[in-house]
Amino acid sequence: MGQPNPNNRRNFIKSSGAALISATFLKEVSGTSLIPSLQEIKTLSDKDETLFWKALRLQFPLQKDSTYLNNGTMGPSPYPVIEAVKKGMMDGDQFGAYGGWESTQKKIADFVGASDDEIALTHNVTDGINIACWGIPLKKGDEVILTTHEHVGNAFPWLNRRKLDGIVIKTFEPASTAAETLNRINSLISKKTRAIAVPHIPCTQGQILPAKEICKLAHEKGIFSIIDGAHGPGMIHLDLHDMGCDTYASCTHKWLLGPKGTGFLYVRKEFRETLQTYFVGAGSDNAKWNMALNPPEMGTYADSSHRYYGGTQSLGLYKGVDAAIDFFNTIGPDKIYNRIFELGSYAQEKLLAMGDKIELITPTEYISRAGVNGFRLKGTDAAKVYQYCADKKFRIRVVHENGLNSLRLSTHIYNSKEELDAFFEVLGKYGS
Ligand SMILES: Cc1ncc(COP(=O)(O)O)c(C=O)c1O
Repeated sequence: MGQPNPNNRRNFIKSSGAALISATFLKEVSGTSLIPSLQEIKTLSDKDETLFWKALRLQFPLQKDSTYLNNGTMGPSPYPVIEAVKKGMMDGDQFGAYGGWESTQKKIADFVGASDDEIALTHNVTDGINIACWGIPLKKGDEVILTTHEHVGNAFPWLNRRKLDGIVIKTFEPASTAAETLNRINSLISKKTRAIAVPHIPCTQGQILPAKEICKLAHEKGIFSIIDGAHGPGMIHLDLHDMGCDTYASCTHKWLLGPKGTGFLYVRKEFRETLQTYFVGAGSDNAKWNMALNPPEMGTYADSSHRYYGGTQSLGLYKGVDAAIDFFNTIGPDKIYNRIFELGSYAQEKLLAMGDKIELITPTEYISRAGVNGFRLKGTDAAKVYQYCADKKFRIRVVHENGLNSLRLSTHIYNSKEELDAFFEVLGKYGS
């Protein structure tokens, strides 16, 4: 399918009679460059859900001959996001527009239940985790609690800090219930524990950890709560003030379907004076520095989380983040979260229906899951099953991390139950 352009939009309106989207019409336009607008698609919402999701799929430039079931690695952006990135870049390249990305802080803050002065723009989750990991005051022998299910982005910064500063890392395996996970964390806490640095939703099996309870426990014991939030925004409702974490590092290029290479770090306002600032430049100061004085004057850090980042950002990319949040708000975030949960549940039912052939590693507990399912096909090598699926044009993810030898399915609103049916038919034939 081509990119949407104004001519195609006019053609669409002519041929559809404006917003009279029907199943037959969708079949016809699918594979052409006629794309109904989001507003037109929205008219189907609550009238014909099946058609609504089918029409919405046309907003994504995904291929027709392969099925993408790997949103956990990268969330494809819909056309309005791609268009906004282009326009933001053109504004710079055509008219010399510079700056303007700070307004995205407020947009992100509103979306995740924070204040705009608590959001620092970053380029990915890893940036935010490094800022948080290096910014908390730790000395040799201080203990930090992580899971055995870390992504390299939350493992390596802490392992590096252990190497360079001599901190001690303790780990636990996430349990099949939120209550037991909390118990496991509690039992690792000692007098030397200074931080709990866990993923909200580990990449391995997409289990939702009880973040609010973890942060409460940390707070009661005077321990920092440093959350890896790679998979939170866009998959489930977020209210960071309610969660009570000290920091939350995330990106927009997964579940929020934003441009790749855009992220943010939330730093709780009251935590700002504790979290040291190492990476500074334009925007992270209060504009009082002056090298011509003797001695040179520094001024102070910015009175916001802007103190954690400085320098030029990409206006186009952050305009794309704005558009991604607009996309969510136009459809309605809850409608999206419900659909993600519905597809995740459907995939889980299908896995469970495979009986003894499968080992499901994502909890079935309602509060501990959403759009991701991790599993093993018993007695097989996950890398080989992954390749088999890839050859059949189904893109999933192999989980090589931490010796897990498992597979991961992650589904978003552009997926359908029909795609999952087709995937499970293929998976069921593995080895036959
Ligand atoms: C749980 C988790 N943490 C951290 C990261 C790193 O994210 P980024 O590549 O945006 O730095 C990922 C990426 O998949 C992840 O799944």
